[in-house]
Amino acid sequence: MPKLIVTTREGETSEIEVADGLTVMEAIRDNGFDELLALCGGCCSCATCHVHVDVAYSNKLPEMSEDEDDLLESTDHREATSRLSCQIPFTAELDGLKVTIAPED
Ligand code: FES
Repeated sequence: MPKLIVTTREGETSEIEVADGLTVMEAIRDNGFDELLALCGGCCSCATCHVHVDVAYSNKLPEMSEDEDDLLESTDHREATSRLSCQIPFTAELDGLKVTIAPED
């Protein structure tokens, strides 16, 4: 299974295997990272699934929608590598993707 590498807010890094058909948010949440709240469940309306994504993968990620862009704009910790993890379907192409959970707003 393709792997996703997750770094928590405390700086702890772990590698998780991701089953087919999950988004990055679902993979993180289902592996017990409670600090990723994902309050809206993936409907792109809360921004509590904010992550910073390894820049090496930026051209493999789906394009950002206007809604995602607006939500990220409302957060305090937006960076060039910011994405909402519920908007990234995890595909085999993303094997080895590194994400860091963004600080809480
Ligand atoms: S889970 Fe709410 S925007 Fe991603």
